[in-house]
Amino acid sequence: MVKSLNESLSYFKHTISDLIKSGKNISIISHLDCDGLTSASIIGKALFREGIRCTISTTNEFNNNLVDRLSNDSRDFHIITDLAGGFANTLDEKLGEDWLVLDHHEIPEEEYDNERVINSWKFGIDGGLEICAGGMTYLASKSLNKKNEDLAAIAVISAIGDRQDKGERKSFTGKNLDILNTAKSNGQIDVDLDLLLVGRETRPLSDALAFTSQPFIEGLTWNRSSCLALLNSSGIPLKEKGRWRVPAELSDDEKRHLIETISKFATGKNMTEILEELIGYTFTFPKEDQRSFLRDVREFSTVLNSCGRISKSGVGISICMGDRHRMLQEGEKILSEYRKKIRDYMNVLSNERWRTAENMNCVMVNGEGVVPEMMTGTITSIIAGSPKNTGKIVILRTNGEEGMIKFSSRKSNTCNLNINLSSLMRTGAAKFDGVGGGHDAAAGAKITKDKLDDFLDYLEGNVTNLQDPNNTQ
Ligand code: C5P
Repeated sequence: MVKSLNESLSYFKHTISDLIKSGKNISIISHLDCDGLTSASIIGKALFREGIRCTISTTNEFNNNLVDRLSNDSRDFHIITDLAGGFANTLDEKLGEDWLVLDHHEIPEEEYDNERVINSWKFGIDGGLEICAGGMTYLASKSLNKKNEDLAAIAVISAIGDRQDKGERKSFTGKNLDILNTAKSNGQIDVDLDLLLVGRETRPLSDALAFTSQPFIEGLTWNRSSCLALLNSSGIPLKEKGRWRVPAELSDDEKRHLIETISKFATGKNMTEILEELIGYTFTFPKEDQRSFLRDVREFSTVLNSCGRISKSGVGISICMGDRHRMLQEGEKILSEYRKKIRDYMNVLSNERWRTAENMNCVMVNGEGVVPEMMTGTITSIIAGSPKNTGKIVILRTNGEEGMIKFSSRKSNTCNLNINLSSLMRTGAAKFDGVGGGHDAAAGAKITKDKLDDFLDYLEGNVTNLQDPNNTQ
């Protein structure tokens, strides 16, 4: 029988309280993206507060080898966050009752009855939109001790990192909204309707405009010199005391003037849509320094993603847990390294045209030898965000370790194709002895190289003939 969310949280509380009483030690294993790092930080902080001994580690993927490693581990109990969908039976077999999972990925229904799986979907909460693993770990931590309510602010970063700001004007819905409201009433976060420029607190205005690709403004996006020229012509002062001003420093009048300037530049280019996308909800940590990359929640989430993706998860977790000294400088370095790597991979993929094949529904990109496995999700999301791929599915593949091929798939904006990528990847990978899963709009899979042609045929067969229900032609 599936329990309610409250019953499940109380199971969590009692299990952990028993471990605390008996002085057991715990390992936390989490995914290495923003949601994974925030989840590990939330649960880690909650356990440290109870005085429990625990260690945190992160991984790019959950697999049988990892379960074997856990079963030989000296720790007494394992909390797995943002991972392990589809592994409940294996975990039961290898770890007995000494584990639990806090997650939001879609899982097979047969896992619903396992009390150790605390997954949003089994309580009727959409894990793709209404809550992520950070939200689930926050709820669990709060059930342990009410004082963990201050961890709501970290859970907001998870939801942004997993792009769950899909409500009107990039707002939150469902449990995410409740968590946001808690952080707001704790005075930890400010929410405003503002210009959605990338790098609100850190990038010079012209760069922020150039690097904002949603909305995509022909002639401005990815064109720093034309952005600078436009802004110079607007009369908005771009520097203050010799330092470039950042978007967050503009007054309301200057913001209005900037919008007018962009409107004139983009005349006739579906201006309403551009403005719709340009103005939305921003989330700010008022206690962080101005012009710090930790002040704007979207920038914070980018830093965490970059830490995980270039194997510096510890830095991201330390920052989430409150380190504001050495780790902050490290974070800054990691972010610029991460951005450089992304630019390099994107340059190769766009210069080597043979790597991309597309049809009406799908863009297939071969990133073998270029994109490292850990960066596939990031690069697939960027390709899916490009305006020329609007409405399509993007599937990128690259080499994994030990003769494996890693696939990463994303639905682009406004993709209405009637397919669930999580099922596509899970079912397909299972057919060819691999592992896959994820969400409706973002999923991954891994297969052995000898199955590549068959898996590509499977993808093509399932994606090419899909119908867009909104396109009646
Ligand atoms: O690897 P990638 O970033 O493309 O994965 C997209 C989403 O699918 C992530 O949230 C990831 O955790 C999830 N995923 C999964 N099971 C897999 C592979 C990916 O749940 N086997």
